[in-house]
Amino acid sequence: MEKLRIRGGRPLNGTIPVSGMKNSALPILFACALNDETCVLQNVPAVRDVATSIEILRHMGVSVTYRTPTTLEVNGAGFRPLTSPDELVENIRASSYLMGVELARCGRTDIAIPGGCKFGSRPLDYHTKAFEIMGAEMERRTRMTGEAPEGLHDGKIMLDTPSVGATINIMLAASRIPGGITTINNAAREPHIVDLALFLNACGVTVKGAGTSEIKVYGAEKLHGCTHKIIPDMIEAGTYMVAVAACGGRVTLTNAVSKHLEAVTSKLTEMGVRVEESEDGNSITVVSDGAASLKSVQIKTDYYPGFPTDMHPQFAALLCASEGISTVTENIWARRFAYLKELAKTGVAFSHSELGSTATFFGGQKLLGAEMDATDLRGGAAMVIAALMGEGESTITSPEYIDRGYDDLIGKLSRVGADIARVEVFKPCTQQTAAILS
Ligand code: EPU
Repeated sequence: MEKLRIRGGRPLNGTIPVSGMKNSALPILFACALNDETCVLQNVPAVRDVATSIEILRHMGVSVTYRTPTTLEVNGAGFRPLTSPDELVENIRASSYLMGVELARCGRTDIAIPGGCKFGSRPLDYHTKAFEIMGAEMERRTRMTGEAPEGLHDGKIMLDTPSVGATINIMLAASRIPGGITTINNAAREPHIVDLALFLNACGVTVKGAGTSEIKVYGAEKLHGCTHKIIPDMIEAGTYMVAVAACGGRVTLTNAVSKHLEAVTSKLTEMGVRVEESEDGNSITVVSDGAASLKSVQIKTDYYPGFPTDMHPQFAALLCASEGISTVTENIWARRFAYLKELAKTGVAFSHSELGSTATFFGGQKLLGAEMDATDLRGGAAMVIAALMGEGESTITSPEYIDRGYDDLIGKLSRVGADIARVEVFKPCTQQTAAILS
């Protein structure tokens, strides 16, 4: 077992290169299973959810070879639908994309219930309703299953809310309906939707409207190989921006798209952080005197281009130490507040009722070192930020949650001056072991 050990109170100075976006790499990896030719994917982040996805795909006959630590060659010619390994599917949310891929490939799907970070119920009803409009009969019991005896056909789908996962799954399924024109209304507009569309277009599918709320997918008989570079991870970049705001210092994030971070930049600027964007829009410099010098702010999470839910916990950590009373209202994942219980161990003051969607932070607190347990990926990132600005030493157990989405977190933070390390946790000796050793 491992944990993170962080000694707080150091400013951050230097440069952090941002890795490729996890939530873009995942659907694009699964999209390769639609393609019999080789795709070269560049800027793939070394995060645990990517590794799990690769393991699932390899298990299902897809060939995945590393050319460099960030460049993969993926060939889906050997893809065997209906052979996904349950325990890995249950581990990540992105495995839900197998439904779209399997239905497109063989008119059937049968996967375990996809897992992922646990913040309340994470339904898949938009996905299944869309596949039903496209000709499949879907069932969710102990597994996700579906059958389209005549194969999928195109359709017009109106999503109740702009779900990222449902938009992606429909795009994947629609890609291999030759001659079909599938329309998605109220589609998600996140940058990773645009990235997936660019990838599919490079493979010979025609996707129009990605980045707007109406997407049209013109399916292809076959996909062909291509080379595609994954976009930079806006949530990773945003997390480091908040870390610098919290600890103070001056850090330049390279390979970061400032356009994707407008909501985050706007809130940081409102708090008094200096955020400078390079002229080409590909690097961002954050300058701060530390959390105590920053003003309170009110945050409401929303679909892109609104404030990202995946940045909510990191901001919450910052708001505990900045001046005044701040609020965070979570509108996407009502149960995303589990991390607060852990953050409380640093001595911060907030109020949040079990069922409420708003947490209030009474700022100006001096955070103390604490022993925390990472509850989920972004909650874990919030604990890292709290520990970095805290006084004394903190430990964070279950760092594997953080590994799901942060590429080389320790290396990147250490190189800008943080005192952070991954250490082994030794279990206490049982009486029996002590007797053997003595
Ligand atoms: N929803 C439904 N029914 C559905 C699908 C979604 O009601 O069939 C609801 C959800 O309950 C939620 C909202 O729609 O309230 C949005 O869910 P969405 O489908 O957009 O989320 P997702 O695709 O499951 C992805 C990211 C999450 C990120 C959300 C929102 C991946 C693998 N995951 O999840 O990322 O929070 O979009 O932006 O792309 C993370 O990286 O830490 C993470 C959790």
